[in-house]
Amino acid sequence: MMNRFLPLLLIAVFYSCKKSPEISQITKKQGLITQKAMVVSAREEASKIGSDILAKGGNAFDAMAATELALAVAFPYAGNIGGGGFMVYRMHDGEIGALDYREKAPMAATKDMYLDSLGQVIPGKSTTGAMAVGVPGTIAGVFEAHKKFGILPIEAIIQPVIELAERGVIVTKKQAASIAYFKPQIEAVNANGTVLDGEWKENDTIKYPALANTLKAIMKNGRDEFYKGKTAKILATFIQSQGGVITVEDLARYEAKWREPVTFTYDDLKIISMSPPSSGGIALAQMMKMIEPYNLSEYGHNSLKAIQVITEAERRAYADRSFYLGDPDFVTVPNEKLINTDYLSKRMESFSFENATKSADVSHGKVQIIESDETTHYSIVDQYGNAIAATTTLNSGFGSKLYSNELGFFLNNEMDDFSSKPGVPNVYGLVGAEANSILPEKRMLSSMTPTIVEKNGKLLMSLGTPGGSTIITSVLQTILNVHEFGMSMQDAVDAPRFHHQWLPDEIRIEPQVFTGTLKSDLQAKGYHLNEENAPVIGKVDAILVLEDGSLEGGADKRGDDTAVGF
Ligand code: DON
Repeated sequence: MMNRFLPLLLIAVFYSCKKSPEISQITKKQGLITQKAMVVSAREEASKIGSDILAKGGNAFDAMAATELALAVAFPYAGNIGGGGFMVYRMHDGEIGALDYREKAPMAATKDMYLDSLGQVIPGKSTTGAMAVGVPGTIAGVFEAHKKFGILPIEAIIQPVIELAERGVIVTKKQAASIAYFKPQIEAVNANGTVLDGEWKENDTIKYPALANTLKAIMKNGRDEFYKGKTAKILATFIQSQGGVITVEDLARYEAKWREPVTFTYDDLKIISMSPPSSGGIALAQMMKMIEPYNLSEYGHNSLKAIQVITEAERRAYADRSFYLGDPDFVTVPNEKLINTDYLSKRMESFSFENATKSADVSHGKVQIIESDETTHYSIVDQYGNAIAATTTLNSGFGSKLYSNELGFFLNNEMDDFSSKPGVPNVYGLVGAEANSILPEKRMLSSMTPTIVEKNGKLLMSLGTPGGSTIITSVLQTILNVHEFGMSMQDAVDAPRFHHQWLPDEIRIEPQVFTGTLKSDLQAKGYHLNEENAPVIGKVDAILVLEDGSLEGGADKRGDDTAVGF
């Protein structure tokens, strides 16, 4: 757990002084303001390619395809064609939907594939190298979104990305630190080296010729190049040569799936978020419905009482997540029951401002299921009023670390998002149950929470973040920062965050940003604080529609994130 966050510790930019709630409300540091359209992503190069597509008359879905692929070049830490993701959209006329391009388990996967003969989890097997790889979904997702809604030809979208890969990408200070940190892990997995070999310094340029060639083949032959063509054969052969089990048939059978998003209200907001196989939308709905009866704005941003209410809602939602949620094509997820207001108000009955609830006393709630129990974020608003929120991942930094030199990309380690063994935590410390156990072709549970917010029937916000288990709480706290505490989008994104996920029973807090008094007040109420394990919580990218209809970008200062638009 510690190691995974260390690179972030090295590269993160922190507040240098303590920030009181009052100051954060008064400061109102605004992000980029544009009149018509905007893309906010983890790298300026990707936001610019997406924004240029919009300027050429493309819509949010064209820009999604361009930005997603550009992130695979400019931000190989998480941007990918060897991983997967989720996208939520809202059209200018209010129509909503969601796309699931999450990886799935290969057909040869088994429930106990990461256990030894004594039933113990084999360290590293689900996180590093070829066995950790899930069948990638990104290319299917990009082509599916483009096929259904795109208006520009795919060549116009992919060509600028190919040019970026050939021209190369300038290394930022944070990127140099992250490559240096991951170098030993990447070298350990790749005997033949990778494109990242060498000592990269800030302002160096890394070129990605192999990835450019793969993208050329995909541009020429379409999505089937990746799933049924030469690329598919090379990929399956490579993974198997490294000890993995993904076959050409696994690739050929992969499909992105349209899903119905989770929707719910909070005060006068309507929230539209990702449905299973992500836990994000349901957990966000649970938390917000548990928080809604409390007057957070009166308590104040990051005040003792606000932190107590939010923490207790998070604790209860994560307890349900670990028990009930999994791939809806394999298990029955009681969506409606889990976000039912009466159920959630009962869940909060055990909360008191006097003392912290103990996670040991909170199990999953009782919801009746009448069936068997088998089982880098970017936001875009276009000049037509369409909005998308998309979160995409390799899971860990550089995924499984496995890199195909021939094809030019890293492969995910998304298999670790399954529960390898009930009760044994994954890389994010999340525990799971039967609902998220491994089965052939099942999608692993995610926390990714691409989310769109409406107010009075109009688009208000598009947002999301990376951060593993902290994704859901980061999205929650960002929405509350705007709605309850009146912050600008940029302030809402930059504000200090905290996180509770039921187990372990502790509040992770970003270091050096919460006052000593607040920390001792929380401890006096019985909360355990962990300031070491979370140098940054989330890296939110968001767009807010202002009252005059202009757009404000919130590009998280914790990374190299940048808003570009016009
Ligand atoms: O799907 C999930 O929940 C995780 N694989 C997301 C990973 C992530 O956010 C990595 N960023 N720190």
